[in-house]
Amino acid sequence: MDQALGLRKRTSSRDPWDESQPLKAPYEDATVRTLSVSSGKGGVGKSNVVVNLALALDRLGKRVMILDADLGLANIDVLLGLTPTHNISHVLEGSRRVEEVLIPGPGNIRIMPASSGVQKLTQLTQEQKLLLVDLLDELEIDVDVLLIDTGAGISDTVLYFNVAAQERIVVVTPEPTSLTDAYAFIKVMFTRHGERSFRILTNGVADEKEGRSVFAKLSRVADHFLDGMSLDYLGWIPRDPSVPEAVRRQKALLEVFPGAPASRAFMDIARRLAREAPSMPKGTIQFFWKRLLQV
Ligand SMILES: Nc1ncnc2c1ncn2[C@@H]1O[C@H](COP(=O)(O)OP(=O)(O)OP(=O)(O)O)[C@@H](O)[C@H]1O
Ligand SMILES: [Mg+2]
Repeated sequence: MDQALGLRKRTSSRDPWDESQPLKAPYEDATVRTLSVSSGKGGVGKSNVVVNLALALDRLGKRVMILDADLGLANIDVLLGLTPTHNISHVLEGSRRVEEVLIPGPGNIRIMPASSGVQKLTQLTQEQKLLLVDLLDELEIDVDVLLIDTGAGISDTVLYFNVAAQERIVVVTPEPTSLTDAYAFIKVMFTRHGERSFRILTNGVADEKEGRSVFAKLSRVADHFLDGMSLDYLGWIPRDPSVPEAVRRQKALLEVFPGAPASRAFMDIARRLAREAPSMPKGTIQFFWKRLLQV
């Protein structure tokens, strides 16, 4: 199981005298790019974005982990027809090890279900936080990208994950309420946490023109009211009947309809993400957890 998940313990790391193994700087394996996916408004396609972007990056050879931090009902596990029996709260209680909580998704994706454990993360004592970081530290997980489905709304938990992530993707649809809720989310992140950098992904749009126009509307308001705000246009995903069809089948769109327009759009966005240099130095996965837990 551990092997299937691509996990290995620190203790079994490479033999430094074995020349048949390629030499790598320690940070090459250990660094991870963390991206959160939020929206303000619910039901705009966050979880679909997380799953399909994860699979698209997987296809490009990236090692991807999803952190399902959504407390709602339409979780990643439901979208993919998975039934996790444990989540991060079991790790906190000490009844399960971290690697026992991870579940394999499509491709080589690994999913860490957090569900109810997520709320507990924000309420841990210092001692529990240190214990959790220690537990996570024991794992040497080969991950290039960690995608976090933060769920709808602007609760403390959602904000918390957005502060810890290096890059923030905000999903917006052409619906006016999606725009106002995305703006409310960005504004709270800016006023409370001084966060100025967001990447906007327009979803469920008719064409490229509509995608651009949705972005322009949000950008205009943000530029006007939030000083120093920088919204970056990540791209657009078309409204595509294959998306709800894949949801009904509880499969990732990219798996069942790889040629669908939305699948091609996910691949385009993944290629763009994979090509660019991360906006800030990548940290280790432990660094992300420590930031999240503010240890
Ligand atoms: N590009 C698209 N084209 C057509 N339908 C879409 C598209 N993206 C999402 N949907 C539909 O919207 C619904 C909601 O998607 P999803 O569950 O990913 O949203 P969410 O933002 O994660 O919701 P929640 O806030 O409840 O977690 C899905 O049932 C899906 O079929
Ligand atoms: Mg969701």
